[in-house]
Amino acid sequence: MGKASFKVVDFGVTKYGEKAKKYILNGAGGVVLEVSDYGGKVVRLFTPDRKGKMKDVVVGFDSPAGWDNGDPYWGCIIGRYGNRIAKGQFKMDGRTYRLPALNNAPAGIGCNLHGGKRGWDAYVWGAEPFVKGDNVGVVFTHTSPDGDEGFPGKVEVKVTYTLTAKNVWRVDYEAVPDKKTPISMTQHVYFNFKGESGGTIEDHVLKIAASKVTPTDAGQIPTGRLAKVGGTPFDFRKGMRIGERINEKDEQLEFGRGYDHNWVLDKGEMALGKKAKGKMNFAAELFCPLNGRFVKVYTTEPCLQMYTANWCDWNQTAKGGEHLSFRCGCALETQHAPDSPNKPKWPTTFVEAGGKYRTTTEFRFGAR
Ligand code: BGC
Repeated sequence: MGKASFKVVDFGVTKYGEKAKKYILNGAGGVVLEVSDYGGKVVRLFTPDRKGKMKDVVVGFDSPAGWDNGDPYWGCIIGRYGNRIAKGQFKMDGRTYRLPALNNAPAGIGCNLHGGKRGWDAYVWGAEPFVKGDNVGVVFTHTSPDGDEGFPGKVEVKVTYTLTAKNVWRVDYEAVPDKKTPISMTQHVYFNFKGESGGTIEDHVLKIAASKVTPTDAGQIPTGRLAKVGGTPFDFRKGMRIGERINEKDEQLEFGRGYDHNWVLDKGEMALGKKAKGKMNFAAELFCPLNGRFVKVYTTEPCLQMYTANWCDWNQTAKGGEHLSFRCGCALETQHAPDSPNKPKWPTTFVEAGGKYRTTTEFRFGAR
């Protein structure tokens, strides 16, 4: 086993004129995680294949410039609210709050996505790297002011990335608002276990521990219904190649141009009720049969958004001259269901003034 260590290097300047740094975390188990204080973005992540060969397995850029456009939110921390809020508005205690509703606006059904125009991903956060025994990591901190992107209340946020000797990347989210407000955070890293310029992830095999999804309308807002996955292209319970059914004629797949949906985890709070709240459970596994690399995702969150980068077939060049192609990555975003602030029957995302928002997600890497 190696020794956990870190190194800090300059990473350039964001379009907001903020200077960013990169933290290279050398895990004692061999995995190397390079992250920036620019929205906690994962720049590189090296994991071993079944022969022990290391490769960078995330989509990302060499400098802030590639990330400055926001969408598709490559590799970053998402807040204050991950995924969509219908029409960019929600009601809380009798009052209506209005947020930017830019996403899907051309379709005439605008909604708020991933925190708004300038979400938490677009700020340079405070960052404290650490080594604690076999663990290495960074504590990221950010203050979101009252009224930020239309949301009520100032929020003090802390996200801790820890890389363990067992090649686990743990993400601990904590946030405390000074007024009641909705909070649902996630990490938006896109994996491709074939590495740079690996092409589509349709050959990766995915397992999701969920019997239900939340179908959406054409504007990708959950209808409020829960649908069983059995017999549909959304059944990943036993493991299925992502490309197996992705191009089938299916209204849901047409709305998302592929997979871009929220799965209700069988052991989570949304499926089982309050008694399951905050318990850490297996959510998903992404496996590349070609080289054996895998990640197993464990989370305290009730849901998982699985997104296959369906909207990125433009000419963008990423790290090392990599051309980003259609479906070049798979994001496994642990979260509360999209539009929960407008769905009173679903597990709440409202956090009381002075209350603690706290969730944990683990990405456990390996090869077989
Ligand atoms: C959303 C997608 C969106 C992507 C990038 C995902 O979480 O569900 O619809 O295109 O993030 O913004």
